[in-house]
Amino acid sequence: MGRMPLIAHISDLHFPYTTAVLEQALRRALAEANPTLLAISGDLTQRARPRQFELARQYLQTLPRPQLVIPGNHDVPLYDVFRRFFRKSQRFREHISEDLEPVYQDDSLCVVGVDSTRAFTLDPHGFWKNGSLSAQQLETIRGRFLAAPGGALKVLVMHHPLVNPWDQTARDTVRGRRRIIEVLEQAKVDVVLSGHLHLGYSAHAPVFMPQGKHKILCIQAGTATSTRLRDEANTFNLLNWDGMTLAVTIMRFNGTDFVRERTLEYRLR
Ligand SMILES: [Fe+2]
Ligand SMILES: [Fe+2]
Repeated sequence: MGRMPLIAHISDLHFPYTTAVLEQALRRALAEANPTLLAISGDLTQRARPRQFELARQYLQTLPRPQLVIPGNHDVPLYDVFRRFFRKSQRFREHISEDLEPVYQDDSLCVVGVDSTRAFTLDPHGFWKNGSLSAQQLETIRGRFLAAPGGALKVLVMHHPLVNPWDQTARDTVRGRRRIIEVLEQAKVDVVLSGHLHLGYSAHAPVFMPQGKHKILCIQAGTATSTRLRDEANTFNLLNWDGMTLAVTIMRFNGTDFVRERTLEYRLR
């Protein structure tokens, strides 16, 4: 029997607003963790500029593989309106990955990535930053998870979160989350990995299915390397899966190294 699967989850790198000390500490911590899969949940850059994507690409090349990477709202041009509406993901595809719906699959893990960025959403908190998923994206996700081997941990990677750390409301969550959660419940998705809010936390999604007992665990990674805001802790997550219980460890930067802050265990089977 092989080793137990370990997912390292990093997010919101925001190149070029990082430091060599942080980059090296993250690289060391990830090399030591030696994950089965490195999941990167978007916002690789600050403003989606080619040079910023190039810095992100070069850095990702120094991290463990395999990697599953998806874009965040900062990887979509903000002020270049033509690009924003007609070439939204072009730079991400040129510099980082052609595949905006990546999949990692082995006997014990089924990990599916999705692009939740939008050129525009109607939202009082800012049209530019919120995300959503189309009916077609949801159908693709559903099909992939329903085809996964029984017993595999089903993990969706999506930049925008389904829950916020403050309350039970939809504030700061992905648009249309009820529709999304209903599909994920049907497809028996276990875990959703997100970023965007720059806070490391985990919580269950609200249950919408009438007979719903299936609770989706939402795990958020903080910003791994961004130094843009002083009061944000730099963190990432390690997820250990033993076939029944998922142990979620938040690793926090202490100025020199990433060290274990806390571990929460969730019984999923
Ligand atoms: Fe971000
Ligand atoms: Fe974001």
